[in-house]
Amino acid sequence: MLHCQERFYEIYHREAESMAFCPYRICPIGAHSDHNLGKITGLAIDKGIHLAYRPKQNGVVELSSLQFDKRAQWHVREVPKTKENDWADYLRGATMKLAERYPLQVGLSGVIEGTLPIGGLSSSAAVVLVFLKALCQVNAIQPTPLELIQCSVEAENQYVGVSSGKLDQSCEMYSRKNHLLYLDTKTDEYELIPTQPSMKPYKIAIFFSGVERTLAGSKFNMRVDECRSAAYALAAYAGMDYGKFHETNMRDIPREVYDRFRDRLPHTWQLRAEHWFTEFARVEQGAAAWRRGDIDEFGRLSFESGWSSIYNWETGSPELKTLYDIMTRTDGIYGGRFSGAGFKGCCMALIDPSFEESICQTVTHEYLKTFPQLEGKFSIHICESADGVM
Ligand code: GLA
Repeated sequence: MLHCQERFYEIYHREAESMAFCPYRICPIGAHSDHNLGKITGLAIDKGIHLAYRPKQNGVVELSSLQFDKRAQWHVREVPKTKENDWADYLRGATMKLAERYPLQVGLSGVIEGTLPIGGLSSSAAVVLVFLKALCQVNAIQPTPLELIQCSVEAENQYVGVSSGKLDQSCEMYSRKNHLLYLDTKTDEYELIPTQPSMKPYKIAIFFSGVERTLAGSKFNMRVDECRSAAYALAAYAGMDYGKFHETNMRDIPREVYDRFRDRLPHTWQLRAEHWFTEFARVEQGAAAWRRGDIDEFGRLSFESGWSSIYNWETGSPELKTLYDIMTRTDGIYGGRFSGAGFKGCCMALIDPSFEESICQTVTHEYLKTFPQLEGKFSIHICESADGVM
C-alpha cells in the first residue's frame, strides 16, 4: 500500500476508490526553448506522482499532499479567481481551465504523494496531469491529450503566472518507455524514436542537489522575456512584419536574420538568442543521434546543452553548476545537464549501468566536498524510462 493510500484512510476512515499516477520527466536536450516555440527531446521516468482519491458528488475538491502542510479545498464551478500562493494553485488553475472546456459536476477528495524530492523533474506539471486525469474520470469526460496539456499550460501561464511552455506536460503525457520523445512545440507534431537494439545500455541518474525550489519567483520569466525581446528586435532590424510582443517567438526569426543582426542586440539578449538557436540545432542533431543508436553523441549534446544553459541562458545555482562540472569529468556518464529551469533542484545524466556504483561514489564524494552542509539532503536516484500518462 502506498503512503497516500494510508493517509487517505487516516483522514477519511475509508479506502480510496481509485489511484492515478503521472511520471516525472527529463529533458536531456531542448531546454529553455519551448516558451519560444522550439523543439525538445524528453523522456518520462519510472518515478512520479500518485493520487489516491474518491469522487465527491457535491462538486468539492479537497486535497492533501504528503509533501506540503495545508489541506486545500475549492468547488469545481467556483474556483477562486486569483491564486492563493500555495501548492494547490496549479490545481485550482487546472480546474478552472478544464471547467472552461467541459461542464464539471463532480469533485474529489484525494491525497497526493510525490516519490522524489521537488525540483527539476516537473512535479508541478505531473501533479496537474494526475489531478486532471482523476477529475476527468469522476466526471466521465474524455478530453484529448492535447487538451489536457493545454489546460495544464494555461493554468501555469495564466493562473500561477509562470511563462513556461509545453515541454513538461508533453513529456509526461506522450512519452513511451525506451523511446525518445522528439516534439515540435510550435506544431505539436511529435515522434517517439525507439531505442535501437544496437545502442549501448543506459539508465537515468537523478542527482538531487538537496535544494528544493519553486519556479514562480525565480528569474525564469525574465529569461523568457529577454529571449522574446531579442526576437522582437531582430524582426524589426530585418524589416519583418511583426505583431504583438507576446505573440512574437524566436521561432518566427530565421537563423540568417539572427546571424546578420546579432551584433546589434544588447549582450544579454544576444546570449539568450544564441542559446535558443544552438539548442534548436542540438535537438535536431540529438534526435538523429538517438535514431542511429549513438548514445555517446546524444550524451555529448546533452552536456553541451547544459553548458549553454549555464553560460548563454545564465541559469544554474552554484549547487547545480558544481554537479554539472562533476558529471562532465566522471567516467561512465554519457551526458547530462541540470534538469528543468535550473535555479535549484537536480541534474540528470544518462549513464552506462556498468558504472553505476562508481558514479554514485564519485559524484557523492565530490559534491559533498564542496557542500558538506548538504549531507543528508543530497540524494541520487537511478531510474529507467517509462510510459507517460496517455
Ligand atoms: C521548466 C518549464 C518548461 C521549460 C523548462 C526549461 O520546466 O516549465 O516549460 O521551459 O523549465 O527548459
